[in-house]
Amino acid sequence: MSDWSAKNPYMTHITENYILNGEGSRKETRHIVFELGDSGLDYKVGDALGVLAENPPHIVDELIAVQGWDPEMTVTTHNGERSLYDALKKDFEVHLANKKFVQSLAEKVVSSGMKISMSIVARTRNESSWSATEDQQAPPSLRPSMPSDDPAAQVEAITSDTKAIEDYLWTRDYIDIMREFDVKYTPEEFFELAARLKPRLYSIASSHDAHPGFVELTVGIVRFEYNGRARGGLCTQFMADEIDTSGAPIGVFMSPTKSFVLPEDKDIDIIMVGPGTGIAPFRAFMEQRVHDGGGGKNWLFFGDQSEKTEFYYKDEIESWIDGGHLYRFTTAWSRDQEEKIYVQHRLKEHGAEIWEWFERGAYFYICGDKTYMAKDVHRALIQIAIDHGGMSEDDATHFIEKTMMREEKRYLRDVY
Ligand SMILES: Cc1cc2nc3c(=O)[nH]c(=O)nc-3n(C[C@H](O)[C@H](O)[C@H](O)COP(=O)(O)OP(=O)(O)OC[C@H]3O[C@@H](n4cnc5c(N)ncnc54)[C@H](O)[C@@H]3O)c2cc1C
Ligand SMILES: NC(=O)c1ccc[n+]([C@@H]2O[C@H](COP(=O)([O-])OP(=O)(O)OC[C@H]3O[C@@H](n4cnc5c(N)ncnc54)[C@H](OP(=O)(O)O)[C@@H]3O)[C@@H](O)[C@H]2O)c1
Repeated sequence: MSDWSAKNPYMTHITENYILNGEGSRKETRHIVFELGDSGLDYKVGDALGVLAENPPHIVDELIAVQGWDPEMTVTTHNGERSLYDALKKDFEVHLANKKFVQSLAEKVVSSGMKISMSIVARTRNESSWSATEDQQAPPSLRPSMPSDDPAAQVEAITSDTKAIEDYLWTRDYIDIMREFDVKYTPEEFFELAARLKPRLYSIASSHDAHPGFVELTVGIVRFEYNGRARGGLCTQFMADEIDTSGAPIGVFMSPTKSFVLPEDKDIDIIMVGPGTGIAPFRAFMEQRVHDGGGGKNWLFFGDQSEKTEFYYKDEIESWIDGGHLYRFTTAWSRDQEEKIYVQHRLKEHGAEIWEWFERGAYFYICGDKTYMAKDVHRALIQIAIDHGGMSEDDATHFIEKTMMREEKRYLRDVY
């Protein structure tokens, strides 16, 4: 076994990187393949891959320009001595501003006694140019109203409560804020405030038995735009835009799971619910079940906005169905009709059959959005136990949360 880790990642490259969406999609979901080369890295289905990204060069350049810093100067960070440029590119999350930085404005604004740029006040008074697509997560709300042109009062309004800071930060990064308040920091001051760059985890979408020497991911690229500047997610943009298939190095490590695993007994049936990028581990599960053989039936619930543009891995899914490996495939295309159809609606429609599978000892897996989807699916499972298991609400909740999830460990989640 290898000892690659977040602190000591294996430097590899991406061999395939393509968009899974059809033309006209509102999303950019990619299939990304990494070579494992001589790393000795191994993985099982259900594991996640850790990826170490860097900040986009245009953000680093703009930050240096706004602050008037010398990119060549030598600085010391938690990763040792390096040029300021490298420190900003690799050591800190400079693409999204944080609360600590906003709180630091109070001192900067008072001590400099400066006046906020009038053009920016005019713009922000009309509320910021929220221009991410309607399909991306909406901001919690737009900017708190500005009480006056006095920067100290403005900082006071922004930092007055957690929600106001969150609202403010949603549409601004460091560059926007530094410009808005015309504040200057030394690199050392900035390093004290900015968050250290962290790796991102991705559910592995391949079985190592089916793809020896490679690891594959299904990645939703995060892109948005505010104040006339294209912005987005650190790691997803790094993989899509900067690395792509250029052969440039990118650091990875394995994050093994103890719980999100296939049943040891290959004759046990499994139900997999994975809308959107949640399909990732279930592509891996299906590849593994096909490789391993065994008599367990597989039922996949998948969905996303539209069948035309989001039917990820269509050919593979159809070949599993044709080959008799995927016993049931149930889809929920949310925007192909007037009313939203989500996976939990499909689960309830098939409640009687799902209950039969549960009674026969089937495992239930869910992957994808933690905030809304996983909670709604959880409630749907309790409802199925009430409707088809004849249980009271308390008993149904106990069965789903205690019996299936904790005791029998056959309701397993990989949600984010
Ligand atoms: C165990 C696990 C498995 C995962 N598996 C997968 C997977 O298989 N596929 C996958 O795609 N992801 C997966 N993720 C999520 C992944 O780790 C990253 O969180 C995701 O890719 C975003 O990373 P990023 O660096 O691109 O974005 P970040 O730089 O982390 O930025 C994301 C942040 O940007 C902000 N933001 C987003 N949209 C907007 C907007 N419109 N306006 C303003 N701000 C906005 C939000 O604060 C959001 O939290 C998984 C996570 C975990 C924990
Ligand atoms: N900007 C961002 O940061 C950003 C953008 C996209 C996704 N994400 C996050 O990335 C993860 C995966 O995103 P993804 O693009 O793969 O898929 P996703 O956004 O989770 O969407 C997949 C499908 O789930 C549907 N859906 C929405 N709300 C649901 C609910 N309450 N219950 C069940 N289904 C629901 C969506 O429908 P509709 O879209 O038609 O409602 C869509 O059909 C999630 O954690 C998501 O929150 C972040």
